[in-house]
Amino acid sequence: MPTYREAYRRSIDEPEAFWAEQARRIHWQTPFERVLDRSKPPFARWFVGGKTNLCHNAVDRHLASRAQQDALVYVSTETGIERRYTYAELHAEVNRMAAVMRSLHVKKGDRVLIYLPMIPEALFAMLACARIGAIHSVVFGGFAAPNLAARIDDAEPALIVTADAGARAGKVIDYTPLVDEALSRAEYKVPQVLLIDRQLAPERLQASYLVAYEPLREQFFDAHVPCEWLESNEPSYVLYTSGTTGRPKGVQRDVGGYAVALAASMEHIFQGAPGDTMFTASDIGWVVGHSYIIYAPLIAGLTTVMYEGTPIRPDGGIWWRLVQQYKINLMFTAPTAIRVLKKQDPALMEKYDLSSLRTLFLAGEPLDEPTAHWIQSALKKPVIDNYWQTETGWPMIAIPRGIEELPSKLGSPGVPSMGFNLTLRNEATGDACAPGEKGVVTLAYPLPPGCMQTVWRDDQRFVDTYWKSVPNQMVYSTFDWGVQDEDGYVSILGRTDDVINVAGHRLGTREIEEALSAHPAVAEVAVVGIADSVKGQAAAAFVVLRDADRINAPGAREGMEAELCHAVDSQLGAIARPARVHFVTMLPKTRSGKLLRRAIAALAEGRDPGELPTIEDPGALMQVREALGN
Ligand code: PRX
Repeated sequence: MPTYREAYRRSIDEPEAFWAEQARRIHWQTPFERVLDRSKPPFARWFVGGKTNLCHNAVDRHLASRAQQDALVYVSTETGIERRYTYAELHAEVNRMAAVMRSLHVKKGDRVLIYLPMIPEALFAMLACARIGAIHSVVFGGFAAPNLAARIDDAEPALIVTADAGARAGKVIDYTPLVDEALSRAEYKVPQVLLIDRQLAPERLQASYLVAYEPLREQFFDAHVPCEWLESNEPSYVLYTSGTTGRPKGVQRDVGGYAVALAASMEHIFQGAPGDTMFTASDIGWVVGHSYIIYAPLIAGLTTVMYEGTPIRPDGGIWWRLVQQYKINLMFTAPTAIRVLKKQDPALMEKYDLSSLRTLFLAGEPLDEPTAHWIQSALKKPVIDNYWQTETGWPMIAIPRGIEELPSKLGSPGVPSMGFNLTLRNEATGDACAPGEKGVVTLAYPLPPGCMQTVWRDDQRFVDTYWKSVPNQMVYSTFDWGVQDEDGYVSILGRTDDVINVAGHRLGTREIEEALSAHPAVAEVAVVGIADSVKGQAAAAFVVLRDADRINAPGAREGMEAELCHAVDSQLGAIARPARVHFVTMLPKTRSGKLLRRAIAALAEGRDPGELPTIEDPGALMQVREALGN
């Protein structure tokens, strides 16, 4: 067996040879002619000319050997529904959904926007799109109507698939009014909306664009829809993510490269074998859900567990109960969930037989040492941090397994994964950093298979955003700070841009600022991320009102705060709601008018803001201090 170092070097020095071998993990209907086309950097095309299909690899391919194995275990603690679907049943459901989509004239290359809660139909719909060559764009169910409208206008979907309602912590959230509002806000006219009726919200099928799923499913009960064989580089999906500007970016992914990369990651990082059961507690609206609830475990022939609910209802033992009951081997979630579970009675964990569980994987935000220590000693199983982004699609830093097993080091998610040519670079010069020196985490061209191809319909934005931010180097910037030690282990030290990470959710502070500025009472606003003991970070807003006196009357301040939080809820969704709103009469800025967000964040966290550029009005910093009460 090669050492990690040997295998990694080969993946960087001989990418064609390395990835050609990995490509054998999936089915190719037509073999590829070239492993890698690097004629147009920074764009990379993997497995050129090869034809394959994600749905075939995730579902049909397993029918010969594991038709009766569970493909999906669905558990909702919101509705009390628990159901298993074998690969044969999954195949049938995906065919029904694909036939329904075709009957609604969805064709190869069309976009289908999926705005669904965590229900099996979400998985069926994604796989049905993959089957017929339609491009899915899943929008997180917690996003509000204006957010949804922006994505409709960018993706121009031929169909939206939605449900009557979602549910969280026992509260039913009606989806159709949100979809209605989004449709009327969007400029692009969506021809039709397919509605999955969970019978949670009142019947709403009167609108002319709504089509009920259930009767069509009955009609196409025995349908068989052949897989559309797609050239490896055709798009499979677009997933929007936040960046520095208020406008979300559509991360576009291919078909063949993604399938190969995920299949390889299941062995090299997750060590999931066919027949294993994997429980990824995330949401299909995020990249972790796309890759590790849906595609990777199914491509590798595992059973995937899809869960609707919170980790503490009906009690804090629910996830451990699932491990025991479904003999879960691999679990994957975000550190925030573990911090929530840490507050629960330890007896709730001890009550269950966790012997099936081999490894817990954590990603999405920094894993702090107390949380890592606690969960490792409570579970007595390896806990593997891994670092990646919506853009990369799979972990770019992790502890390799199945090659040579390197030890974990606390505070670091590990070493670069196969194919990721990762270097820390000095922010000002672009030079490679020495071990121990802080720099920007960058990747050299070409990005390995599975990473984003481009920004949907905006190649220039892909080039300008990701490949031009490091001076003197044409490298991909992750916009994360990091430091690498002598042994190659990287620690992640936070974002270089204005993105914050709340409970593992990536949010742009600019988006929150725009939502607040839209309120007529607001003159100016700065939103920063501040440390939070459970969610990792929380958003804090510093607001300058047009009329400072309007919060002087008793209760007026609280009323204004509530109004502003409501503005964020209705523009973006409750996940973006600031944890705190502070009122000031001016914000600290440089002479050229640049907001000093880092200084505000430092003060808000009680840190020394360090050396500052000349501030237009030094009184502004005093105000921030006073507003914070320190
Ligand atoms: O800042 C890094 C942080 O989350 C960002 C990516 O978020 P998203 O696009 O939602 O993808 C999440 C995929 C797991 C990164 O730029 N991040 C992610 N994982 C870690 C992390 N920060 C520290 N440690 C991690 N393991």
